[in-house]
Amino acid sequence: MTDTRPHQRNPDDTRPEAGLSPTLTFFRQWLKNPLTTAALSPSSRQLARLMMQELPPGAQRVIELGGGTGVFTRALLDQGIAPDKLMVLELNQELHQYLAQRFVNARVVCGDARELERLVREYHFADAGTVDAVISGLGLLSMSRRMQREIMEAAFGVMSPQGRLIQFTYGPVSPVPREVLDELGLKVRRGGFAWWNMPPASVFVFERSRSTPVHPVRATSKR
Ligand SMILES: C[S@@+](CC[C@H](N)C(=O)[O-])C[C@H]1O[C@@H](n2cnc3c(N)ncnc32)[C@H](O)[C@@H]1O
Repeated sequence: MTDTRPHQRNPDDTRPEAGLSPTLTFFRQWLKNPLTTAALSPSSRQLARLMMQELPPGAQRVIELGGGTGVFTRALLDQGIAPDKLMVLELNQELHQYLAQRFVNARVVCGDARELERLVREYHFADAGTVDAVISGLGLLSMSRRMQREIMEAAFGVMSPQGRLIQFTYGPVSPVPREVLDELGLKVRRGGFAWWNMPPASVFVFERSRSTPVHPVRATSKR
């Protein structure tokens, strides 16, 4: 894991880095890492709106996985999530730099979603309150089941029992198969459909299906 501390610039500066638009920045990363970037261009605002609609009422502390160029980050801030209660994780170092410069007040971390529990502990992100939701822009559909399981387990390991993971996918069904959900004690429902996204995308919402947490790790405890 690397953490390149945000370079100081105006808070919530939305100017594209070095004159590059978010679309071009994103596309350049797709050319370099098509598998992990998992999309040719950033998500649309329509999709961001549908993702935000699934936040639990009164959600305050939120984690975003796979921030990209920040479409969902911007939407979360516009939705009223305070920058100090928002943690954004991005694996790609250049996209991480881009996000860190764009959202200087949010906790923008360069790291792997599979390491979420360790990162949350390390950054004391959940010390003052529980995590209400995880917004995921990860390309779960193109990941192995093992990776999907690790990411889902990590996400539900840092959230409150009522927490939910909000994910989009370009496929027609849930990107996480039934077996993985059953193993982890999770259920899924379909949210909205973004026709105008490129390509069109569906929103899915994952929640615990039983009251006992699957992996009851407290963010401040040691493994
Ligand atoms: C499909 S893009 C979505 C970007 C942005 N959320 C959006 O909707 O425009 C997926 C993003 O997840 C990042 N990513 C892929 N694997 C990751 C991982 N294991 N941990 C954190 N980020 C990851 C990629 O670098 C990429 O920026």
